[in-house]
Amino acid sequence: MNEAALPHEDIASLLKWYVDHGLDETIGEEAVDRFALPPPAAAPAIAPSQGAVAPTPIRAPLQAPMVRAPVPLESPQLAQDARELARRCGTIAELEEAVRAFEGCALKRTAKNTVFADGVAGAPVMVVGEAPGADEDRLGKPFVGVSGQLMDRMFDAIGMSRERDLYITNILFWRPPGNRTPTLAEQAVCVAFTRRHIELARPKVLVLAGGTAAKAMLETTEGIMRLRGKWTSLKLDDGTEVPTMPTFHPAYLLRTPASKRQSWLDLLAIDKKLKELGSK
Ligand code: URA
Repeated sequence: MNEAALPHEDIASLLKWYVDHGLDETIGEEAVDRFALPPPAAAPAIAPSQGAVAPTPIRAPLQAPMVRAPVPLESPQLAQDARELARRCGTIAELEEAVRAFEGCALKRTAKNTVFADGVAGAPVMVVGEAPGADEDRLGKPFVGVSGQLMDRMFDAIGMSRERDLYITNILFWRPPGNRTPTLAEQAVCVAFTRRHIELARPKVLVLAGGTAAKAMLETTEGIMRLRGKWTSLKLDDGTEVPTMPTFHPAYLLRTPASKRQSWLDLLAIDKKLKELGSK
């Protein structure tokens, strides 16, 4: 349909429909009518464990669409592949390289950047959030938007900074379109890398920011209202355990400032734990 011929209010509804479906950014000048493209030539199926095939670039020329093998992006095999790949990484640098090269998460196809980590690897506190938002996707670093700035101010209140004391990542390395909640399959794949990330970073204390990260890391269906403020222990595959504090996500605190009081108590508990452990 020629959108230019639509009445103004229909264009507004169409834009709203796009945003509701997660299409919140313009990637190309011309819309690609994928139904009008010739069907791709049959390609041999390649199992993810044998090496995934690079995705079709969004701006591929119309006359020469790239052929992509049908990698099943919801397959439990992908989480297994991710665990195996992550296990083979002996350093954070190797893990970062493996994550950047990984093609088994569909979110990578719509994201601008892989968002791996920020702060100091090996710092006493490791913060794990949910997923990059628009600012993080653009800049390639976690928690750099408004909620990240609030998080920085909160840690600053207990004398800690990302330049010196914090190592920050997310359970997902790629922004979900329109900031939708990541599916359980997407979480399972990325969490395989995040668990190894924690093993390699060896923080004294782990902070899980928000319900999605807390549920995924602790493998529970319990909500953040019940989980926050209580120490738990995250058992890693190498047998180590990390004292873990689930807390509210800073984006939630921006929407619900009255909850900052509880987050302040969580921060004080983190401060106390670090002092007990001799890390502060
Ligand atoms: N929210 C998150 O959970 N992580 C980010 O990196 C940014 C916002």
